[in-house]
Amino acid sequence: MELILTQPDDWHVHLRDGAAMQAVTPHTARQFKRAVIMPNLKPPVTTVMMALQYRERILGSLPSTCAFEPLMTLYLTDNTSAHEVSLAAQTPEIIGFKLYPAGATTNSDLGVSDLGKCRTALEAMQRLGVPLLIHGEVTDKTVDIFDREAIFIERILIPLRKDFPALKIVLEHITTRQAAQYVSEAADPIAATITPQHLLYNRNAIFSGGLRPHWYCLPVLKREEHRLALLAAATGGNTRFFLGTDTAPHARALKEHASACAGCFTGLHALELYAHAFEQAQALDKLEAFASFHGPDFYGLPRNRGIVTLKRQAWTIPEELPFLESGLVPLAAGETLNWRFSVS
Ligand code: NCD
Ligand code: ZN
Repeated sequence: MELILTQPDDWHVHLRDGAAMQAVTPHTARQFKRAVIMPNLKPPVTTVMMALQYRERILGSLPSTCAFEPLMTLYLTDNTSAHEVSLAAQTPEIIGFKLYPAGATTNSDLGVSDLGKCRTALEAMQRLGVPLLIHGEVTDKTVDIFDREAIFIERILIPLRKDFPALKIVLEHITTRQAAQYVSEAADPIAATITPQHLLYNRNAIFSGGLRPHWYCLPVLKREEHRLALLAAATGGNTRFFLGTDTAPHARALKEHASACAGCFTGLHALELYAHAFEQAQALDKLEAFASFHGPDFYGLPRNRGIVTLKRQAWTIPEELPFLESGLVPLAAGETLNWRFSVS
């Protein structure tokens, strides 16, 4: 049995830089035609010039025949100027700005400390039609980590949308029933990406048989009721939900560490993981629109023309891939998947 899909895009990836980037970029470029590249490097990608240089490094890590298209994002800071926004708006290689609340996740220290400081940039983004991609978690340490997304919607997102109703927003890697519901019901223009790990696992996965750092990402996995709400959103045909893996490679030594880094590496087997989740929900017929149509339609880009094939064929996810000094452990390493990606 085979599943033939229009070639998909990944609307949220971390490719890192240098040798790490060289190791992971070919995996994403094998499955996806385009990918939205996160700007949380050290130092972060805050200007159009930096993003274009980063894009060249990404393309340089692939064979020149590869048709992969990186869609670059800029890291929003308290100091992002309206001028930088207008430069971004004129640069087709740039797809939007990424909002990291300062301290929310990996390399977010230089993120936004107070959205009030970004008013000029946000006004320019709204006026020029530049999308804002949001890591939607409050950073208030008194808020329980499992509630940070739901509280972000109440405290930050709803007021932001009152002030900037025409600003195009993608709520990235949503993890809760509240986020799925908000994105379904809110006024245009808003959409959300959903990762494979949040469709496949609930928070028990982090603790099953011992503490398992390879299942630790941010926003953290939630209760089963939230996983079910996300699965319903992804498989329900609603055009506001689309594929974004949030593949976030960290070397094994930094994952298997006393303070493990957050991030699941899914670049190797992204589509197979989604197919697994959609099959469990008996919704394989909804996978193509989620993976290949809703994203470009929201961003106003053409749908891809090529096709890819998933074959129904059991295979075992490798225990480790080469990556820097200590290797890279893919999500669910050693487990079996029923679908296997092949290029048509
Ligand atoms: C991401 C990373 O490692 O860059 N980690 C993660 O757990 N998702 C950062 C992010 O997207 O929050
Ligand atoms: Zn991410």
